[in-house]
Amino acid sequence: MSISQLTINQFRNIEAAALTPAGGLNLIYGANGSGKTSVLEAIWFLGLGRSFRSNQAQRVIQYEQEQLTLFCRIGEQDKVGLRRTRQGDVTIKVNGDKPEKVAELAKLLPLQLITPESFALLLDGPKARREYIDWGAFHSDPHFHLIWARSRRLLKQRNQLLRAQADDRQIAIWDQQFAHYSNELTERRRAWVNSLNGVLEGIIGKFLPNAQVRVSFSQGWDSKTPIEQILKQQLQRDKQLGYTVSGPHKADLRLRVNNIPVQDVLSRGQLKLLVCALKIAQGVLLSQQHRKQCIYLVDDLASELDSEKRTLLLQQLEQTGSQVFVTAIDPEQLAMISWQRMFHVEQGRINTTDS
Ligand SMILES: Nc1ncnc2c1ncn2[C@@H]1O[C@H](COP(=O)(O)OP(=O)(O)O)[C@@H](O)[C@H]1O
Ligand SMILES: [Mg+2]
Repeated sequence: MSISQLTINQFRNIEAAALTPAGGLNLIYGANGSGKTSVLEAIWFLGLGRSFRSNQAQRVIQYEQEQLTLFCRIGEQDKVGLRRTRQGDVTIKVNGDKPEKVAELAKLLPLQLITPESFALLLDGPKARREYIDWGAFHSDPHFHLIWARSRRLLKQRNQLLRAQADDRQIAIWDQQFAHYSNELTERRRAWVNSLNGVLEGIIGKFLPNAQVRVSFSQGWDSKTPIEQILKQQLQRDKQLGYTVSGPHKADLRLRVNNIPVQDVLSRGQLKLLVCALKIAQGVLLSQQHRKQCIYLVDDLASELDSEKRTLLLQQLEQTGSQVFVTAIDPEQLAMISWQRMFHVEQGRINTTDS
C-alpha cells in the first residue's frame, strides 16, 4: 500500500502542489517554516479527516481561502479525495463514491506517525497507549471496530444512568451487556498485544540492546476478578462519582525496564527509539498478518538521535518495505541512506530533486 500520487491545495502554506512519491524512502527537506510538516499533515488529513497538530480542522485551511482539497492515488487503483470548507463541511470520495464511515479511509491508508512529540505515547496517561493497541487490533481484526464501538456506547449509557441515580436493578440489566462487550474487547486486545510482543522483542533488541524492556497488557480492572463482579462491587462508588471507575476504558500497555516504568529510566533519545520500535512493530505485524503495508510519516527524524541511531532507524524503516516520508532541514543530516526520491520545499512550493 503506497501513495503513488498526491495533490495538496490550499493546505497551510501550500497553495498548490503535486507530488509523485516513490514506493520506498522519500525525503522532504527545506528550511524552517517551508512547509515540510504540512506535507505529512496533509497525508494524515487524507487518512483520518483531521490534523495531528491542531484540534481545530479549519486551522489547516490556507489563510484567506474558503476550502482545502486533497487527493491521492493509492497504488494503481484507489483514489481518495477530500474537501473541507471553512464552515466545516467535509466531502470525502473513495473511488468516486462517498464512504459510509471515515474508518474506511483508515483501512485504505494505514498511517504511522512519528514526530518529535511522539514521546507523549510513553510519558502521558494511558489513553494514547490504549489507542495504540486499538489501532493494531482495528487493522488486524475485522470485528474489532464494532465491538469497540458497542462497548463505548454501553459505557456512555451506564455513566448516564449512574449520574441519573437510576435504580440498581436497571443498571444491572445494562451491566450484563457491558460486561459481555468488555470481555470481548479485552480478549481481542490481549490477543493483539500477544502477537505484537513476538515482533517487538526483536526490534527493541536492535534499538535498545542494553535495556531489557518488558511490555505487558493491563486490561483495566483486576484480572483475577470477573468484570461482572467488579461492576457490582463498585456500583455504589460509581454512583457517587457519576462514572464507571474500572473497565476496558482503563486498559493500558505497560512498558518497564527492570520493573521500573520506562519514562523514569530511559533518555529522551532512547524513548524516541522505543516509540519508533512500537510503531515499526505495529507495521511489521500488519504486513505479516494481512499483507498490508503501513505508510510511515516521520517528522524531523534527526531530532534527539545521534548519527548512528539515525542510520539504524532509517535502515529499520527501509527493511519494512513500506513507503516512508521523512522530513529534515538539511539532506546532509540523513545522507547515510540512499533516498528513492527527494522533495525540496520552499515557501510552500515543492520540487522533486535528484536523489
Ligand atoms: N492556515 C495557514 N495558512 C497559511 N500558512 C500557514 C497556515 N498555518 C500555518 N502556516 C504557515 O505554514 C508554514 C509551514 O509550516 P510547517 O509545515 O510547520 O513548516 P516546516 O515543517 O517546514 O518547518 C509556517 O510558516 C506557518 O506559519
Ligand atoms: Mg516541521
